[in-house]
Amino acid sequence: MKAIVYSALMAFVGLSACYYDHADEVYGNTPCDVSSVTWTNDIEPLIQSQCLSCHQGVSASGGLDLSTYANVKLNLSTMVGRMNKPAGDPMLMPQSGPLANCNLIQMDTWVAQGAPEN
Ligand code: HEC
Repeated sequence: MKAIVYSALMAFVGLSACYYDHADEVYGNTPCDVSSVTWTNDIEPLIQSQCLSCHQGVSASGGLDLSTYANVKLNLSTMVGRMNKPAGDPMLMPQSGPLANCNLIQMDTWVAQGAPEN
């Protein structure tokens, strides 16, 4: 029984370590610039590089095609919800692990501005 508790604890510590690696990017020396977040310069490239490998075309994962602004706008709240799940959560997107915190903050900033096609 003790061994099981110990391995569960170590598994948790392991996951937390991965999670905090990302936190370093926010609290470290790299500033997160949110002064001029735009669809064209920030959000579209982010989705293209992080989501479209699975979410494009007729066989898009979960039936969700994120290759156009209109589709992104339509699915925004679901997307943001899934992108902000903690590491290890089966609902997290992308599935490989959380985006850099700065990307999440830029996404929030853009949504707060009304998610314009700018
Ligand atoms: C490696 C493939 C892969 C990548 C990359 C990926 N996804 Fe997914 N996504 C899936 C799969 C598979 C599903 C369906 C299973 C599920 O709902 O978890 C899904 C489901 C979703 C859903 C739920 C769709 C619905 O209506 O039920 C959303 C929202 C989503 N992904 C957003 C994103 C976003 C945003 C990104 C980029 C930040 C992303 N995904 C990157 C594979 C991926």
